[in-house]
Parts: sequence; structure tokens; C-alpha cells
Amino acid sequence: MAFRDLEHAELKGQRALVRVDFNVPMEDGRITDDTRLRSALPTIRFLSTHGAKVVLIAHFDRPKGKRVAEMSLGPVVDDLSALLEQPVAFADDCIGPAAAKAVTSLEEGGVALLENLRFHAGEEKNDPAFVAELAKLGDIYVNDAFSAAHRAHASTEGLAHVLPSYPGLSMQLELEALDSALGNPKRPVLGVVGGSKVSSKLDLLKNLVTKLDKLAIGGGMANTFLYAQGHDVGASYCEKDLADTAREIIGLAGRNNCKLFLPMDIVVADRMGPGAASRVRGLGEVDDDERILDAGPETVARLKRAMDNSATLVWNGPLGVFEVPPFDAGTVQAARHAAELVTAGKLVAVAGGGDTVAALNHAGVVERFSFVSTAGGAFLEWMEGKTLPGVAALEV
Ligand code: 3PG
Repeated sequence: MAFRDLEHAELKGQRALVRVDFNVPMEDGRITDDTRLRSALPTIRFLSTHGAKVVLIAHFDRPKGKRVAEMSLGPVVDDLSALLEQPVAFADDCIGPAAAKAVTSLEEGGVALLENLRFHAGEEKNDPAFVAELAKLGDIYVNDAFSAAHRAHASTEGLAHVLPSYPGLSMQLELEALDSALGNPKRPVLGVVGGSKVSSKLDLLKNLVTKLDKLAIGGGMANTFLYAQGHDVGASYCEKDLADTAREIIGLAGRNNCKLFLPMDIVVADRMGPGAASRVRGLGEVDDDERILDAGPETVARLKRAMDNSATLVWNGPLGVFEVPPFDAGTVQAARHAAELVTAGKLVAVAGGGDTVAALNHAGVVERFSFVSTAGGAFLEWMEGKTLPGVAALEV
């Protein structure tokens, strides 16, 4: 894929319309995790120091085309301004006179944030009239929101067709990291896919077994695979109706020479509360009232060996109920081992999607992985092998 290069763009005095993802977790109007604000800082600073007028556009939550007071981007301004160490202007609409006034008032290097794009139905509809209204506010378009790139919306896709468009610096980093994990990886490549539901990751598993050399399946979804192979899973979460699909994936892995690792032992308990009494069981030893809640020690040891023998690791989803110790042990041990290999320069480890960041944070290794994506849906769609409209539209 070829993109325009922001670092060689003429920026002085240009109005840069920058799509960022400020869809941050918030409680009572306060941001509880500002990772997404921080990831936009390099691009904003770069544009600002090169004399551009920086106009930030973003969505927050899902107001469905209506103005919803609790979904305003207003509360983001102070945190962003503090992180940037410069004032950030705010316009209470992303198009029309309020937006135009905020943009016209910007000096070179100045930064403004416009109100939630999704207050207008035209955003999610990718309505050309709405795209044209937004386009009036910029001379160039920069997309730094990989985590929203699976949406073909006006601000993530439409704008790229009407203004000279560039990936932002975080978007570039993300695309490079993802390419090093699945596009053009050093082999052998090992995947770890966990989480509870096979049903939400069918396309992902089917794609991965055609691309990876090895794939370890963990978490609740492994129960479905164990059940499909005739093992008793007791009272565990299990999508029994997907047994045929699980067998189909096992067959597909075999035909594509992808070595599949399913649990060889498991940690079970009668209940899931913190500190619940747990036992290690072999396959076929699970009692009717027991629930599988983590990968067993043999399974984790084999996964560590597989990491030792791989050049690249791509990870999505925890191996057990990591939120409830002691069922975090498998995920934590495996994640720390991967981090050690990265530190030793022996492994490229890329992770992302939903719970994964929280699980790696819990293990204290986010900083030590080669790359951890904060994208949820976009990371999963990328792992499914889908073309992300927001990325495709940036191609030249
Ligand atoms: C996300 O939080 O994953 C992105 O901001 C996309 O949000 P959406 O799922 O509401 O489109």
C-alpha cells in the first residue's frame, strides 16, 4: 500500500482536518483512560510545529445522528490541552458557522476540536453533502484514527476522496506494526487467540489458520474446540452448536499446515469468585459441576516453548478469566514470557483488540510488547483479513 507522506507535505498556513479517535472511556464526565488522546499527540504536535492550523474531528459514543448532551466532546478539551501544553479551542458543532468561526480564528500552529461528528446523521451515512461541509474546513485531510478505520463514514472514508489525504503518524506506526505481524512477518509466526466466544471470532480464526504457522486457542472459546473433539467440559461456557464449525477450523488449519494448539490441561473451579479454590485437570477429567476458567500449567509451558521457537507473535484475547485471580495466571505468565523474548530481541510481539489491552496491562507488559493496538473492532477486522475502508481510502 502506498500513501502520501505527511513528513514531506507543505503544511505552513494549511488547515489540516485531522480525524482522531477520542472515543475514550468516561465516567461522570471524566476521562478514565487517556491512551487515545496521547496517541494523537505526535501528529498534532508535528502539524502544529510545522505551522498548520490543526482542526480535530472525532466521534464520541453512538448518538445516532442526534445531539445528545452526555456525548459531547467538550469534556475532552481540558485533558487534551493539558497533554499538549497549549490551548485547544472548541466549536459546539462540526460543520456550519460555529465550526467555520473556530477554524478561521486559528493562528498558524493553533489547535481546535470540533463537536461530535455523529451528532449529524450524514457522518455514519457517509453522505456526500456532509462530506462537502466538512471539507470546507480543511486544505488537507489527515487520518490518525486507525481504531475507527473499519467504519466507512464521512470523516473516516469520504473526506479522503475530496481532499489531499495523509495517514497521521500514529496511523502510520500502527500500519507498519500490523504489517510486521501479518502482512510481511518474520517466520515462524505464532498466533494466540483467546476470549470467550468462538462465534465472534469465526472469520478471524478462519483467516489466521491460512496465514500463521502456529495458532494457540485459549479462553472460553477453547472449550468449544475441546467439546468438538469429544472432551467433557462440565459446566463451562461452551457454544455447543458451533462444534461443527470448530471441527471445520481444525480441518482448515491442517490443510494449511497451521499447527493448532488446544489446551492440554485446564484450571477448573466450581465458582468464579476471586480466590475461588481451583484445581488443575487433564482433558476428560472435568466434573459435571466444574467450570474451566484458565489454561493449565502444561498448556502454558507448551505455549512458552512455541514462543521461543517463533519470530513473530500476534495476540488477541486472554487465555482465561484474567479479571478474576487466580484465573489470570495463564494469561499473565504467557504475556510476561512474550515480553521477555521481545526485550531479548528474539520476538516481535503485536497485540490488540478489546480485552487484550486490559489483560496485558494487568500483566504489566504493555510497554514491553513491540506494539499494542488500542483498536477494538478495527484490529479484529484487520485480523480477519478485511480491507479497512479508512485505510484503503488513503491509498494513492
Ligand atoms: C472504537 O472505540 O472501537 C472506535 O472508536 C469505533 O467506535 P464505534 O464502534 O462506535 O464505531
